[in-house]
Amino acid sequence: MNLEAARSALRAARRVAVLTGAGVSAESGIPTFRDAQTGHWARFRPEDLASPDAYRQDPDTVWEWYAGRYRDVLRAEPNGAHRLLAQLEELKGEGFLLATQNVDGLHARAGSRRLVELHGNLLSARDEVTGEVFALPDPDTLETPPVSPNGHRMRPNIVWFGEFLPEDALETAAEAFASAEVALVVGTSGVVYPAAGLAFETLRSGGVVIEVNPEITELTSLLSFSVRDVASRGLAALLE
Ligand code: APR
Repeated sequence: MNLEAARSALRAARRVAVLTGAGVSAESGIPTFRDAQTGHWARFRPEDLASPDAYRQDPDTVWEWYAGRYRDVLRAEPNGAHRLLAQLEELKGEGFLLATQNVDGLHARAGSRRLVELHGNLLSARDEVTGEVFALPDPDTLETPPVSPNGHRMRPNIVWFGEFLPEDALETAAEAFASAEVALVVGTSGVVYPAAGLAFETLRSGGVVIEVNPEITELTSLLSFSVRDVASRGLAALLE
């Protein structure tokens, strides 16, 4: 497959599914996880900050880190990649679904509505006792860890390592990828499952999977075509 064939397959497709990862928000200034220099996991151990055990052992340190990421997110703006994916949704309508691993809320701010957040959302927190979800206040008033209106300690409303993804989100995404004629995998290293496995649902049912990433990833050799570029330029080339 070449770029022209990828473009025409995407143009002709009535059902399109998209999986995004941290790379889509890199151009909004939000660090990715596995970039050797700037990635979160190059500076911290995920098990120290993104696991239920870490939160049990040291809730203050875990919340301080999330409060910092929350500040990054509130300062960030959606970039061209987020906007192009919202436009693709406009174009495809009911046949479109965007499944994101990102917790920064930038797809929704760019106008994406047919969206599932597989790993939760950093802009909200969850009451540890009742499970109720509350929007987070201004980060400067955010004490670590925040207390819910019910008086219980809250935790970030995101999926930690060793935890299950929200079942309905994963099911919706799996169905969309299984029925997609074309799937896009944008800005993800493809190393975290079950999210990374969604691409295989499309391949298994005879669909085409196109990657947009400046680097080669674990998924590249298994996919139909790769646009070796950053998300905003790569998506623009595909949607031309
Ligand atoms: N445009 C597109 N892709 C980019 C860009 C960019 N401007 N910059 C970097 N990338 C790519 C990198 O090449 C890499 O393949 O984005 C990918 C980011 O990979 P990771 O840092 O591993 O992030 P992600 O794939 O989203 O991680 C998945 O792991 O830590 C957990 O829950 C966390 O959701 C996260 C999951």
